[in-house]
Amino acid sequence: MNKLLCYNRPMRILGIETSCDETAVAVVVEGSKIESNLIASQVEIHARYGGVVPEVASRQHILAILPLLQKAMNEAAVTWHDIDAVAVTNGPGLAGSLLVGVSVAKSISFARGLPLIPVNHLEGHIYANWLSNTNDGTPPLFPLICLIVSGGHSDIVLMEGHGRYTLLGRTRDDAAGEAFDKAARVLGLGYPGGPAIDRAAREGIPSISLPHAWLKGTDDFSFSGIKTALMRMVKAGEIENKANAAASFQEAVVDVLVNKTAEAARQYRVKQVLLAGGVASNSRLRKRMREASPVPVLIPPPLFCTDNAAMISAAANFRLPGSSVDNLNLDVIPDLKLA
Ligand code: KG4
Ligand code: ZN
Repeated sequence: MNKLLCYNRPMRILGIETSCDETAVAVVVEGSKIESNLIASQVEIHARYGGVVPEVASRQHILAILPLLQKAMNEAAVTWHDIDAVAVTNGPGLAGSLLVGVSVAKSISFARGLPLIPVNHLEGHIYANWLSNTNDGTPPLFPLICLIVSGGHSDIVLMEGHGRYTLLGRTRDDAAGEAFDKAARVLGLGYPGGPAIDRAAREGIPSISLPHAWLKGTDDFSFSGIKTALMRMVKAGEIENKANAAASFQEAVVDVLVNKTAEAARQYRVKQVLLAGGVASNSRLRKRMREASPVPVLIPPPLFCTDNAAMISAAANFRLPGSSVDNLNLDVIPDLKLA
């Protein structure tokens, strides 16, 4: 029998996330109530390289994780006796980074005899919408459409129940976040690019016409054309106002994301639309999705759209019986797909 089902009190899950450049630890009760949620960001370290350096990231995770773990337990005011399970991201992500979180989670599981729950990072992003700070704690309603937009993914997913995903569309080239990061680099707006474009765009107007890849008849995306068009304009000296260029780029990407997501919501007659992933913290995307959607839109607060561990605890909490507990053979899967 599944060990997790034996608990008759609300499950308190320790979540660990180290898939990329944020070391994160959280304590969450019943997949919703956040008792602590700590993030040690490496952004300043990687900024000088203009992107994440994998070896540097894994070394930083090693330095950060144990003190962060202790702090997260202290902040939640819990001891090991209060923790019911350990959840950890085991993919997708950088192998060396994932390994740090998975090794720590395995050690805790072994030492304390706690169930070990591997979580897909993308599933984590989706489940940020179950945390109590989204929608005043009212959980999402199935069936729903979720747009996952992060540094590595742009997926439209139909979700018909816990753990029941159908991938409707994905990017054929750059992910939305990747496109934001590259556009910011081209415009000299710095790293990380998404927040930089978001900020710059507030001072500009979308006055430049950029190509939209609608890929009609599919739920797929393509963002490399728009990025290349922007690059060409910069090289040709045609960009006079960076804020206007940032606003134009952001508007073009948001146009496609919003229209395709709203269309999928109509087609599949879902009850809600969820946004997830780092790009879901984009202010323009949040506003326009709410305006265009035929059904209510749920979006986590910005801090819970970007990488965090509370979302990993939340996803683990709703794991279907029988698929929840792993053992010390758990390995990292850098290219893990959403099942
Ligand atoms: O989900 P996330 O934190 O990490 C991954 O799983 O990839 O997403 C990171 C991505 C980066 O590409 C970053 O530039 C983008 O999310 N991002 C944004 C904003 N904040 C973060 N993109 C647009 N607007 C933002 N405000
Ligand atoms: Zn992420």
